[in-house]
Amino acid sequence: MLISSLLFGDDFYFMLDSLGNLERTHSCGEVRVEDVGGEVVLMGWVAKKRDFGIFTFIDLRDREGITQIVVSEEAAADAHAKAKNLRGEFVIAVKGTVVERTNETVNKKLSTGGIEVQASEILILNDAKVPPFQLEVAGSENLASEETRLKYRYLDLRRPRLQQNLITRGKVLTKMREFMNLYGFLEIETPILLKSTPEGARDFIVPSRIQTGKFFALPQSPQILKQLSMIAGFDKYFQIARCFRDEDLRADRQPEFTQLDIEMSFANQEMVFRTMEGVMKQVFTLSEHNFETPFPRMTYADAILRFGTDKPDLRFEMELKDLSEDLTDTDFAPFAETLKNKGEIKCVVAKNKADYSRKQLDELQEFVKRYGGSALAWIKLGDEISSSLLKVLGQEKIEQFAQKANAEKGDAVLIVAGKKSVVAQSLGALRIEIAKRENLIPKDVYKPLWVTEFPMFEYNEETGNYDAMHHPFTSLMDEDVPLFKRAIEDGETELLGKIRARAYDIVVNGYEIGSGSIRVHQREIQNLIFKALGLTPEKAKERFGFFLEALEYGTPPHGGFAAGIERIVMLLCQTDNIRDVLAFPKTASAQDLMMDSPGNVDDSQLKELGIKIVE
Ligand code: AMO
Repeated sequence: MLISSLLFGDDFYFMLDSLGNLERTHSCGEVRVEDVGGEVVLMGWVAKKRDFGIFTFIDLRDREGITQIVVSEEAAADAHAKAKNLRGEFVIAVKGTVVERTNETVNKKLSTGGIEVQASEILILNDAKVPPFQLEVAGSENLASEETRLKYRYLDLRRPRLQQNLITRGKVLTKMREFMNLYGFLEIETPILLKSTPEGARDFIVPSRIQTGKFFALPQSPQILKQLSMIAGFDKYFQIARCFRDEDLRADRQPEFTQLDIEMSFANQEMVFRTMEGVMKQVFTLSEHNFETPFPRMTYADAILRFGTDKPDLRFEMELKDLSEDLTDTDFAPFAETLKNKGEIKCVVAKNKADYSRKQLDELQEFVKRYGGSALAWIKLGDEISSSLLKVLGQEKIEQFAQKANAEKGDAVLIVAGKKSVVAQSLGALRIEIAKRENLIPKDVYKPLWVTEFPMFEYNEETGNYDAMHHPFTSLMDEDVPLFKRAIEDGETELLGKIRARAYDIVVNGYEIGSGSIRVHQREIQNLIFKALGLTPEKAKERFGFFLEALEYGTPPHGGFAAGIERIVMLLCQTDNIRDVLAFPKTASAQDLMMDSPGNVDDSQLKELGIKIVE
């Protein structure tokens, strides 16, 4: 029951004021000292009310900010009486005069903190139940559980931080549209009801009623449609595109997300790079950050070698160092075995951490195990050198390692041996973990990077086939075409793992902001790529026949990119929770707690669709 009904009975609703023709003159974040003496009308929600007998203070909130309202019994008896009835989140309109605050009462934390509004009239436009959680809390640590907040998302969204995030998101989209229009890109909307396109994740499918038994798929991205737009002659396309992927969720993934999707005809990689650098520069003016262009570049192979990941966070150093060469003649079985199996032994240096305790090292060991690393060896360069490997390798070797790793007195060297991919993953993650624990990551710094020359194919151990690392419409690097020929024509399939694509990502602070590629524009090559991916000509025709045919009608060379809007807004809003930058996000288990979706549908609906739920 509404508290107002409790307080005043059902008559309360007849006591609510009508908005009538009253209009706002200012937002609650807008009034300044220059407005002193003027009459204003503000409307919003009661964020806070403090009663001091003859004076009542109200913090009035709307999306632009908060203005302090003061209601004096002497100056405005009616308004004062009404203010007594106000509670948090009531919706009100206030008419009043702007007055300057005294030096002692200026609130530097508020944009409107130099003034207050002396109310002459208050309209109570609506009441509100007591919210199920407190909206105004000082730090994020005092917030109600995310589950509760997601259930009442419309209330959580009233918190200034989330309001700011969504305002930033809106501004990002505007800046992107402005930029794309300025540079001659045409906004084309592509359909949401599609046929499945392969981007590596599972499709969300939609049953068709009219074509009973058949299904549409929601776009994982508009990849094929934007390429078809190039074939159609639109030259430069963009779309703020909604994408849907039924994949395992992580902190930076949602089942439904938005991309700035672009495609350009007659474009080479440099043109796509310049365009996207321009977009990023323009968007990041919102944080008053000036990106220097061109962005630095690093090949995929280098990124893995130096940072253990294709998304290196360049805000701090700590590169991985390879110790394998120094161990070719080792008798120490775990290392000898690793090298025999074409694995490697690599390390990172934790600066000034020679004082790591046994417990801390055990924790790091457990951390590494999560990424498949079997053990973590260590060297501590304290007053004396100590190491978990001292007994098996001897002092001289240990010192040689420390030198190779560029470790200095006071540092710790952390070593992992194993399969190349496991070493890269576990040390790459350890590098970030240590940087976080030791506060090595500077705030307010953005470090962009182009990662280039991605492998075209990656081996899938489960299926024994090769998958496309980016997607099958990506073209190969010219230098690697002879290798591809050998792989296809001479059956040297293992060469597929060595072929590089004209594919690239933008990485900022360890996040993959977006990716793209120069595409295949000749049908024959596209056929061969499908063949390499294990698709028979029949299967390729069934899934992509329309597209393969289109490639035969004069396809211009083309390439493009898609940037993840959520990730960009996350960086700008300095949050690592993707839900903070979406109005109505899904949980990690892909549910909407507010709408309680996904939900059931009526039997009659299922029947119409020809669908039976089998337990
Ligand atoms: P890709 O699959 O790499 O490329 O996606 C491009 C960018 O979209 C963002 N992204 C996501 N954001 C939030 N939640 C998700 N589940 C999610 N998945 C992807 C990332 C990613 O870099 N069609 C190609 C692009 C192209 O080749 O032009 C594509 O979609 O920031």
